[in-house]
Amino acid sequence: MNFPKDFLWGGAVAANQCEGAYDEDGKGLSVQDVAPKGWREAPTKLPTEDNLKLVGIDFYHRYQEDIRLFAEMGFKTFRLSIAWSRIFPQGDELEPNEAGLAFYDRVFDECHKYGMEPLVTLSHYETPLHLARTYDGWRSRQMIDFFEHYAKTVFTRYQDKIKYWLTFNEINSITHAPFLSGGIHTPKDELSKQDLYQAIHHELVASAKAVQACHEIIPTAQIGCMILGMPVYPLTPAPADVLAAMATERENFFFSDIQVRGAYPAYAKRFFKENGIELIMTPEDTAALKATVDFISFSYYMSTCESVDKTIEAGEGNILGGVPNPYLKASEWGWQIDPEGLRYYLNCLADRYQKPVFIVENGLGAVDELVELEDGTKTVLDDYRIDYMRDHLVQVSEAIEDGVEVMGYTSWGCIDLVSFTTAELRKRYGFIYVDRNDDGSGSLARYKKKSFNWYQEVIATNGESLVMK
Ligand code: BG6
Repeated sequence: MNFPKDFLWGGAVAANQCEGAYDEDGKGLSVQDVAPKGWREAPTKLPTEDNLKLVGIDFYHRYQEDIRLFAEMGFKTFRLSIAWSRIFPQGDELEPNEAGLAFYDRVFDECHKYGMEPLVTLSHYETPLHLARTYDGWRSRQMIDFFEHYAKTVFTRYQDKIKYWLTFNEINSITHAPFLSGGIHTPKDELSKQDLYQAIHHELVASAKAVQACHEIIPTAQIGCMILGMPVYPLTPAPADVLAAMATERENFFFSDIQVRGAYPAYAKRFFKENGIELIMTPEDTAALKATVDFISFSYYMSTCESVDKTIEAGEGNILGGVPNPYLKASEWGWQIDPEGLRYYLNCLADRYQKPVFIVENGLGAVDELVELEDGTKTVLDDYRIDYMRDHLVQVSEAIEDGVEVMGYTSWGCIDLVSFTTAELRKRYGFIYVDRNDDGSGSLARYKKKSFNWYQEVIATNGESLVMK
């Protein structure tokens, strides 16, 4: 196997899906606290008891035990997000909440105790609710200043602790999930394309300003963008399908094209013209966008297809969805499994940008059964997860052989947590089983799954065990 010596093996979580403690130590509400059913349904007025994220997996109080388990697996890195509303409870204050800052000091120190580098996402679907309700999220230009202030605050505070940063998680998902991704309170069907793309523009400027601030405050750090990665194949070789696939792919590359190259891509002009979009873009915005990212990170769960035949029903999937591929099988949630798509996508990013890439999410959401072995140990025999991850990692190795500079791999939900799209607990991704169920029952105890030992060996052998029998 050809994984570089310093390959960053690890796992990933997001604050809103694991921390719980939604109103402790001065934390303000975030958009997640009023979204008990995931991204497709309208938010509630106040947090409701059926919202599993309010307790999450109680990482807020159990982070020491969890990080110790990650260290036991040999993680070199641990990707997590800072909950913006722990630092600025409303989002528009000038002074940060010290208790929130102190919590992440403790978490980062705990990682360093085991030689694990945290990889920190500034905003992972966790906009402070006040910003959504008062400013309509990224529709307001004022959000740029609020976010820049937040980013500068955490860069300054953690400058000696964090080397790797990401700005917005899956920034391209805002086109489908404007509330949870962009804090936009206006219902999706009332949001014009003009307003959506103006909001996107504000978010992209804010991302670039954070990149600039990171480079100034922590010159040794690296900061990346993060996109929802999903290769789009033409359903047939018909040229019209090929062009349709290109158009859909550009809707996603639009974001990273700006974050990596520092300016709007040429194809945006026609897209804006045909959709009646006229952006308000100041000379200061144009200058700010020139601060470009050091690397490209992305999530990868599935690929999809595109067709001009609009009678074909879209399949299930990671927010963006798409037309199902007749050659692929799907997970229990209908997400089509395509390990070779990961190699293909890694190559696409490398060819397009000539920058290092980082897979910061990948994994299988499945229903797990906790069983008791003869010696009394409880575990999950999750061979299906091992197969999924092995197949994907073998393709990562192929991409490295193709010449792609891959910085690392952090599997999604390295410990079971509340799912994003459907806000459930029975959809599990972890190497560690958490005893908590959709009805809120469970002791929150942690159990190592079979995949725990498997991943431990993968890391210990730097990937060699992937091809050993
Ligand atoms: C990505 C998100 O969309 O996919 C994560 O960045 C999310 O937050 C992950 O959890 C998997 O989606 P789900 O719905 O299965 O949790």
